[in-house]
Order: sequence, then structure tokens, then C-alpha cells
Amino acid sequence: MKLEQGGLTWNVRDEGSGPPVVWIHGYPLSARIWDAQMAIPGVRHIVPDLPGFGESAPPPGAMTIPGYADGVLAVLDAAGVRAAVVAGLSMGGYIALSLAGKAPDRVAGLLLVDTRETPDTPEARQKRFEAIEQVRREGVRPIADAMLPKMLTAHTIETSPGTAAAVRAIMESASPAGVEAALRAMAERDDATPLLPRLTVPVLIACGSEDTVTPPSDAARMKNAIPEADLVLIEGAAHLSNVERPAEFNEAATAFLRRIGAWR
Ligand code: MLT
Repeated sequence: MKLEQGGLTWNVRDEGSGPPVVWIHGYPLSARIWDAQMAIPGVRHIVPDLPGFGESAPPPGAMTIPGYADGVLAVLDAAGVRAAVVAGLSMGGYIALSLAGKAPDRVAGLLLVDTRETPDTPEARQKRFEAIEQVRREGVRPIADAMLPKMLTAHTIETSPGTAAAVRAIMESASPAGVEAALRAMAERDDATPLLPRLTVPVLIACGSEDTVTPPSDAARMKNAIPEADLVLIEGAAHLSNVERPAEFNEAATAFLRRIGAWR
């Protein structure tokens, strides 16, 4: 499905049937990172490419995290879905939390994957703006070079060159405008900490045991702040825990979806 929303074009995969799950990818990635999750049976998978990533057109201007969340809500509207389980990886998690804050009645559950609730430190924000300058000068390839060793463990990069090549290809297909907009949106994002104790839906937090971008300590802090949250550590995975250990990830996600399947 293609959706026009506020001057943006969203490309959306819509597969399977059952209770809906919307899967929001991270930076600088695309809907393709969720390929292995499409095997989870019994649910409807709604998987957008954020503007400027995958097959969605580059955004014409600046984006914000709440702005992406508005787009995901428009995707749900277009799919005829009132409430969905909202799954987000990293930047997708920032968007999922923003969506949960602004439209709690549209969220049947949250699957927070390798993400955090806290905003950027001043140093991290500064690095985002330096990365924007780099993208303008050199394009997205250096970003992909720098991110690959954080996305996957050294072991996976060495022993599964196909997986590493696929993740690299996804990152290199991002448009410079999409990358710039995402970097700015992440740098300027709000602190979602006050939201966590107010979440009333079931939450599953998944985190790669080797994740250095949003480490297990972030996941543990979120779990402690959310009234109804479980935490699963995906052993031997880095930032893309769902890509690196799809069987373990899908087992945990499937159990969570089954447990809350009664929301219909
Ligand atoms: C992501 O995977 O979405 C990003 O690495 C998150 C971030 O840089 O904060």
C-alpha cells in the first residue's frame, strides 16, 4: 500500500491476518529488517518504511519523532485498524513511545526492541549534527560503515556474511534526506521517561545482550519504570536482535502476542 500523508509518501507492507501488529524500523534501516518476523503466524503485519527509507519517498523537509508517530497513526487509519500492538526498534521505539503518549487508545500492547526512553545527551546530539554534515558531504555510505559493527556482533559479521551484506544494503539504500531528517528528529526528541509509569498496556522489552547502542541497562531501566513489562535478553545479539537471533526473538514475541491476543 502507498499512503500520502501531510506531504509524505509512505510505503507499507501489509501481510497476514489476525490481530494487527505495526512494526516500526530503526535508523538508518527499512521495513526489511522485519523480514524474519513476517513468519510469526496468526497476526496481521503492518510494516511501514519511514519517509526516506526503503521504498518510501524522501521527506521534503524536517521530521520530528511525533511527526513520524502521526504518520504511523495515518497508516493504521488507512489499514482500517483502530488499535494495534506497536513494535519499534531503536528509533522505531522512540516513535512507538511517542505514539503511545499521544494516542493510548490506539495501542493494544508495546514491543520495545533495542531502544530507550531517554533523550540524547548534549554530546550525542552534537554527534548527530556532525553526522548530518557528513551525510551532506559524503552521502550515506560512511554512516553505514560506522553503524554495521554496532548493528551486528563481530561474530555474526564474520560467520554470516549474507546477513551482514543484507543489513549493509538496507542502510546504503537510505536516502540522504531521510537520514538527515531522522538524525535531526532523534537529536530533538523529548524525554519519554514520564510516560513509562503511565503505560497501562502490556509491554515486552527485547534487547540484545551485546547491544552497545541501547544496552541491556537501558532495557532494565525501562522495565523497572513500566507497570506491566517483561524483559527478554536476546543472548549473543547486538542492536538488531530480531535480525541476528530471529528464532529466539520470534519465540519471545510470539509468546507475548499470544498472551495479549484477547484484546480483540
Ligand atoms: C537506531 O537504531 O534507530 C539508532 O541507532 C538509534 C539512535 O541512534 O539513537
